[in-house]
Order: sequence, then structure tokens, then C-alpha cells
Amino acid sequence: MASDEEEMIVTPWTVSGKIDYSRLIEEFGTQPITEDLLKRIKKHTGKLHLQLRRGLFFSHRDLDWILDMYEAGRRFVLYTGRGPSGPVHIGHLVPWIFTKHLQDVFGSKLYFQMTDDEKFLVNPDFTLEKSTGFAYDNALDVIAVGFDVDKTKIIMDVEDAGTIYKIAVKVAKRITFSTIKAAFGLTESSNIGIIFFPAIQAVPCFIESELTGENVPCLIPAAIDQDPYWRVTRDVAPKLGYFKPAQIHCKFLPGLGRGGKMSASLPETCIFTTDLPEVAEKKIWNAFTGGKPTVKEQKLHGGDPSICPIYYYDYYLFEEEDEKLNETYRKCRNGELLCGEHKIMLAEKVKRFLKEHQKKREKAKDVLDDFLFKNR
Ligand code: TRP
Repeated sequence: MASDEEEMIVTPWTVSGKIDYSRLIEEFGTQPITEDLLKRIKKHTGKLHLQLRRGLFFSHRDLDWILDMYEAGRRFVLYTGRGPSGPVHIGHLVPWIFTKHLQDVFGSKLYFQMTDDEKFLVNPDFTLEKSTGFAYDNALDVIAVGFDVDKTKIIMDVEDAGTIYKIAVKVAKRITFSTIKAAFGLTESSNIGIIFFPAIQAVPCFIESELTGENVPCLIPAAIDQDPYWRVTRDVAPKLGYFKPAQIHCKFLPGLGRGGKMSASLPETCIFTTDLPEVAEKKIWNAFTGGKPTVKEQKLHGGDPSICPIYYYDYYLFEEEDEKLNETYRKCRNGELLCGEHKIMLAEKVKRFLKEHQKKREKAKDVLDDFLFKNR
């Protein structure tokens, strides 16, 4: 169970404890997204996307360089992905929503990787059929986010092995076991599939260049826990004659409980995209909040939005208007807004969102084939 007192652990396969994002920037050696960089982005995107305005995307590597290239008239591709280990929840949608925004404003092509191989390899009790099944199921959520079918290719690792293996071996030849062992905390008893796997996750960074013969820059929007993959990939890139992939990193969406990121293994504190709206409403109703134990105390001392999942969801996803958000913050702090009321307000927005998403998810079934890389 994730709790705030535990030591912070952030690896591609484990995220727990209280996350200190400034420390991650230092430890991972990435760059903070500065006001200057935001201003530069704004020139191209118009009003900054909510996730940038509110610091959900907070760190990067070479984003300034991507903008240099773009301003010099070069195109770049986007790359993100999903480890299909279960159903999709709204925390997973966060970087995808942002990636769609980038596709819209920069007109970029997107490679989306489904790592059914990775999830099979890391989960002792998974069959390959299980992770591949989730990969096709999860692809519906990806499509429902609204990507442009003409500019988006979903790579299914196992299905598309023919193309990606040819690139993966070139990458793998340049990486030693000791590098992977250190970057991912593997041991002598790790299975050899997972030792090789980082070469597979590197492939989409180079796939556009490989397939077109033109060296095309790549920008990866992803949660910060994926960074070890990109560190290794960036070392290899110049050796293969490619640009180092740039990154823009986001934070984790908290769950509905006290502390900890949203996690499918804690279904009560997790809103799945396929939850019936009434089920999601119930989960929100049972959520932890930053409120006081009694109405009287709340009216007297106010609540604490800084630890409140209900406030976080408005902040990160559901309240687009900054003024309304500030108003909610103020009313919560001064005790005017009670947690029950806030929960009802949020539940309405979440239910509306889920109904919309679920409609699009149904429609995605008809176009899934057009999005798959194999039909390129
Ligand atoms: N390893 C990621 C996961 O377990 C999946 C993934 C593959 C990914 N390529 C990516 C995530 C690129 C972000 C960006 O979820």
C-alpha cells in the first residue's frame, strides 16, 4: 500500500512513497520546464495547455532543441506508449491527452507503442495472450483520446516484431548488460527477455528515421518513471547516426486514497475508463479529502487542497478554467465549500467525461485496424 511515509522509489516498474519531483530532476539529471521555455512553447501553441500551465509536465530533456529544429522548419515525430498490464484508468490518459494536443498544434506524426512483450516478461503470472489482449483493448482508449488516424501508428510489439526486431538488434548491440543492470536495477537472476527489452522500447525513437532514411527528431511525452529507458537510448542514438530523443516528463496522477499514484491494483481508489459512471461516482464519494472531520471544523478552519485528490482532479484534468479553479481553492480554504459538495461537483464532471470517452471507445472498434502499424 502506497503511503506518504515510505521511501521514494521511482523506476519503470515500481513507483511508491512520497514523490519529490525536484529531487527526481536532480537524480535523473533532467531539466526543469522554466518560465522562459513556457513562453517559447506558447508562441507556437497559443494559450498553454492546462497540463503545462499547472505544472503537470514539469521536466524535460532537449525540448528547447526540438523547438530550435521546428522553428528552423524541421518536422519531428512524437512517441509515447503503454505497458498493457490491465484496463486503462484516467491517470494513464494524462500524457496521452497532452500528446494529442502536441499532435494538433505541431502536426506531428505519432508512434504509440504497446509493450505486450514487456508486461509478459515482468509479470510472473502473465501469459502472453493476456498482455496482448490488454494491448488491443487499451488501444481503444488511445484512439478514444482523439488522435489523427492519418498521423498515428500504434505498434503492437509482438505482432510488429518483424519490423521492430531489425532495429532493436542494432540498438542492442550497442548496450552492455552492466549498463542495463545499473539503469534498471536488474540482477543476475533477471530473465534475459527483460534484459533485452530496453532495446525494443528504444525502437520507436528511430523508426521514422529508419523507414524514411531521413534523420527525424523525436519527442517523447511520458511519465517521469520511464526516464531510465531514454537515458540508455540517448547514449546509443549518436552511435547509430540518429538524434538523441527529446523528452517531456509528467507527474503521476494521484489515486482517490490518501497519497500514492492512481494504480489499477487499488481499484477502489482508481477510476477506470470503462467504469460505469455511477461506479466512478461512488468511488469519488468514498474518496479521501483534505477536509476536516466535522462540518463545524471545516467551516471554522477550511480544508487543505494540497493533499486532496478531489482538488487534484479539478486541477489536473477536469477544471479547464483557471478562474473557476482559483475560486474552488479559495472556497475550500476558507471553509465555504464542503467536501461533500465538492465531490458532487467533481462526480458530475467525471461522469460526463466517462460517458463521452466510452462512446468514443465504442466507435474506436471500427477504426482500430486503420491505426495499427501493421497496416501502414
Ligand atoms: N514501458 C511503458 C510502460 O510500462 C510502456 C511504453 C513503451 C512507453 N514505450 C513508451 C511509455 C514510450 C511512455 C513512452 O508503461
